Amino acid sequence: MDHAKKPRILSGIKPTGELTLGSYIGAIKNWVKLYDDYECFYMLADLHAITVRHDPSVLRKRTLEQLAQYIACGLDPEKNVLFIQSRVPAHAELAWVLSCYTMMGELNRMTQFKDKASKQSDNINAGLYTYPVLMAADILIYQADLVPVGDDQKQHVEICRDIAGRFNGIYGDVFTIPEPYIPEVGARIMSLDDPESKMSKSEESGGSVLLMDTPEIIMSKFKRAVTDSEASVRYDAENKKGISNLMTVYSVCTGKSFIEIENEFEGKGYGIFKKAVGEAVVETLCPIREEALRLLKDKAYLDEIIAKGTERASYIAGRTLSKVYKKVGFYRA
Ligand code: TRP
Repeated sequence: MDHAKKPRILSGIKPTGELTLGSYIGAIKNWVKLYDDYECFYMLADLHAITVRHDPSVLRKRTLEQLAQYIACGLDPEKNVLFIQSRVPAHAELAWVLSCYTMMGELNRMTQFKDKASKQSDNINAGLYTYPVLMAADILIYQADLVPVGDDQKQHVEICRDIAGRFNGIYGDVFTIPEPYIPEVGARIMSLDDPESKMSKSEESGGSVLLMDTPEIIMSKFKRAVTDSEASVRYDAENKKGISNLMTVYSVCTGKSFIEIENEFEGKGYGIFKKAVGEAVVETLCPIREEALRLLKDKAYLDEIIAKGTERASYIAGRTLSKVYKKVGFYRA
């Protein structure tokens, strides 16, 4: 592998819930294009997955499935470092150090914490609270230049920059200050049954199209997608949220522009449009699903990818951690 001084990228997704069309369009599809220009690290953020109550056997299974799905989506393990967060202990070690340079006031302001705490009032654990510190460690330990994230994670990248800046202010240039990298198109695919909210991984309803959904299920989800009463396929993100969301999906899957799509469906009903969107999504996701299922039968291969990813990630992470430990004065012979 050639790792000659390209800027570095780090991103990840928690293996909670199933990956969706939203995860693909909003994140992974964009990651796939980056390896020519960047040195890319993509993780399975399993440490972050346990901030909510979960089933251990499901987490274990999903982690491997998610790795297979990353590869099936086009992330070549020869060209990208694909790894499991918990296999690189330096993340948790750096998170402890960084927590001593993070103010409670900063954590109190995190909207995701407030949001999650209100949703799980019986389990407002300290991990949920310090989640952004661990995420900062994920990023800083690789000295990442860019962090591709969805809109909802921007505040986490901001606090990471603040923590890194504070640490650097005390100890000199230890960390690269990362920039968030938010794709313009398809950054936020919305739920099919509630276009006001993001298509979420944890959603149980028909609003989320899963990467592993069969063609029949995909078609039926699009058939039921929420639209409006105007009956015209026209992009208007303010007043026609459902249709605009479907147009974004169709545009990403077919490469057609919004104008082309408006022309294509001029005078045609929503039924015809929704069917076309469903078919375009089936065409996009079917090969991914089949490849993921094929890879999952080859556990030895996936384990080998994990071992390689662990090794490569650990090497870089270890170097940063040593530097940090030295800076803060931990004794080494
Ligand atoms: N918090 C991110 C999410 O919920 C996942 C994540 C964990 C992450 N660590 C990261 C993303 C580091 C980017 C960089 O989607």
